[in-house]
Amino acid sequence: MAERVEIVEMAPRDGLQNEVRFIATSDKIALVDALSDVGFTRIEVASFVSPKWVPQMADGAAVLAGITRRPGTRYAALTPNLRGVEAALAAGVDEVAIFASASEGFSRANLNCSIAESLERFAPVVEAAQAALVPVRGYVSMVTDCPFEGAIAPDRVAQVVAALRDLGCYEVSLGDTIGQGRPETVTAMLNAVLNQMPSERLAGHFHDTAGRALDNIEASLALGLRVFDAAAGGLGGCPYAPGAAGNVATEKVAARLMALGYETGLDPAALARAAALARAMKGGSHV
Ligand code: HMG
Ligand code: MG
Repeated sequence: MAERVEIVEMAPRDGLQNEVRFIATSDKIALVDALSDVGFTRIEVASFVSPKWVPQMADGAAVLAGITRRPGTRYAALTPNLRGVEAALAAGVDEVAIFASASEGFSRANLNCSIAESLERFAPVVEAAQAALVPVRGYVSMVTDCPFEGAIAPDRVAQVVAALRDLGCYEVSLGDTIGQGRPETVTAMLNAVLNQMPSERLAGHFHDTAGRALDNIEASLALGLRVFDAAAGGLGGCPYAPGAAGNVATEKVAARLMALGYETGLDPAALARAAALARAMKGGSHV
């Protein structure tokens, strides 16, 4: 039997957060419902962040209230602070994610605080989620390159991964936020990170700015990673990361994984429909 690789779907959150035009809540719900038909185990559907920082994500509670939940799919949201996790839990999320950076410059730009301060702030977030029996995923951004600091040393990434592990994250997703990683830099970064966390608890999160995301996924597969984030239609970017284009497209990742002999458990026809819907929602972005 073919080995399973999981794709975690990002379009409703990482995909839409960068869109300048406000997308109606009903359209966001329709996208999540179309993605639910594809058979993902996890879909990130919202962010409970400051609406002053990311206005597009202000309707997270309404999105969660409006979707039709597919049994077997976990619906997740980003939570930067205690206020965020309390709102996410009240909205009925199945899991939450905290998000740190390997670069001080991006930590300031994205969270308005240092890396150390962000980790301190995440401790009560994890506590609140765990008290509600809700699992916490961690992200590290700028794992190879940063628009503010240039190349990022692999040890810095490993340190943040270790901190997120110690806080209680069941998995850490490694973000090439601006899509400038190369198989060599991704491999060097992973070799450092694997000293802190086993491959079964790591995910790759590649943006496709330079068209190297699939190569970077293959480099990660070679080191044992079996979970990858992607966005249907290649939607995405981060409003606080200049140069961050879309997440690698889910349909491209699924096709490459199939060609490599892995199975994803996704329905290709439903994925094509969801990807078309996602692409139709794409207007202007912040980059
Ligand atoms: P701040 O301005 O330092 O904090 O922002 P604050 O406490 O002064 O809050 C500012 C205002 O927001 C206040 O409102 C708060 O009440 C409110 P005011 O008093 O001025 O009326 N506020 C909130 N409202 C709703 N929900 C909340 C919340 N928190 C505060 N949870 C803060 C600090 C962390 C809040 C801000 O920097 C923020 O929201 N940042 C999030 C930015 C973001 O979402 N970025 C994109 C996601 S990360 C990403 O895309 C990377 C990833 O994909 C991986 C990769 O690619 O690398 C994950
Ligand atoms: Mg991202």
